[in-house]
Amino acid sequence: MGQSLFERLGGAEGITRLANDVVDNHMANKAIATRFANSDLAKIKNAAATFFITGTGGPDVYKGKDMLAAHKGMNISAHEFMAVLNDALAALQKNNIGQREQEEVLFVLYSMRSQIVLV
Ligand code: HEM
Repeated sequence: MGQSLFERLGGAEGITRLANDVVDNHMANKAIATRFANSDLAKIKNAAATFFITGTGGPDVYKGKDMLAAHKGMNISAHEFMAVLNDALAALQKNNIGQREQEEVLFVLYSMRSQIVLV
């Protein structure tokens, strides 16, 4: 048996680092930064980290909404969704995550598109 994606991303510590970088990238990304203008940064960093820890095979620590409930009524465009994927890829590369793991993370994120875009 191979290691889970959770383990290959460096466990809770590695994923927390990644999640913090993804959120920082969002705040610097003109396509989406205004979406988070009223957000509590620490809270969304924690939501991003716990969501990914749980979703990649780590402990069951995510306490937030499912992706449809979290994004319903926001009118999120395909362009904004791509911006989030771009920010995730940049964070993966900054943290020297392997090619295989980069592909797996992008696929996991992409697979949520229908629960987020124009829902
Ligand atoms: C695969 C892509 C995405 C994932 C995995 C994701 C994940 C999440 C998670 C885990 C939450 C927290 C929900 C909660 O606390 O109950 C959240 C909230 C949110 N998401 Fe996303 N999201 C994605 C795409 C997007 C996109 C494209 C946008 C728009 C640019 C967006 C905007 C927001 C906003 C505005 C919130 C609320 C933030 C707050 O509570 O202050 N998300 N998302």
